[in-house]
Amino acid sequence: MKFFIDTADVNEIRSLVQTGFVDGVTTNPTLVAQSGRPFEETIAEICDLVPGPVSAEVTATNLEGMLAEGRHLAKIAPNVVIKVPLTFDGLQACRVLTQEGTEVNVTLCFSAAQAILCAKAGATFVSPFIGRLDDLSEKGMDLIEEIVDIYHNYPEFSTQILAASIRSPLHVVEAARLGADIVTIPPKVLRQLYDHPLTDKGVATFLADWEKTGQKILEN
Ligand code: E4P
Repeated sequence: MKFFIDTADVNEIRSLVQTGFVDGVTTNPTLVAQSGRPFEETIAEICDLVPGPVSAEVTATNLEGMLAEGRHLAKIAPNVVIKVPLTFDGLQACRVLTQEGTEVNVTLCFSAAQAILCAKAGATFVSPFIGRLDDLSEKGMDLIEEIVDIYHNYPEFSTQILAASIRSPLHVVEAARLGADIVTIPPKVLRQLYDHPLTDKGVATFLADWEKTGQKILEN
């Protein structure tokens, strides 16, 4: 399973890349707005830091505009992935950009029917939004399960399932259990993945007991 980081904060990405857990990055207009920085400059910096796919989202809503923006953004770096919304025009843009050799992440997927269309449009990634479905009292994880099952039936579908709108470590674990190819994780949740009070307590106990032995593993 691959881990993408869901942020446009270059400093966060720089520090997380050092952990070796980061396989790619996803951004969206909200995350770019939160960063307070120029969009294209930010994407270029992230692409320099992360060798894997970096999603940059178009903001045009019609096919022509999405293609123009997508082609423009794709020139920033070879690892830019163009993110388009799961609309009729977005799916057409996905097909054209994919045929031109650009990787596309189709975002804002909320149903299995939509995910089937993404695969038929040749998307590299489909992003089902788990947390936002949970927010509406729908089980977001059921959608991951459905898409995994459906894609499994059609080996010709090459679209990777990128579980998005991840809000907790449990989302990551469930997405992994169900077989999502990738999870895109907010930095805070990535840190929560390793945190466990029993680990901290265990380390403290071992160290206290070790002290009692008066030994050292390395003398100096
Ligand atoms: C994915 O690509 C999106 O950027 C992201 O996961 C959205 O998450 P949110 O629903 O927490 O805003």
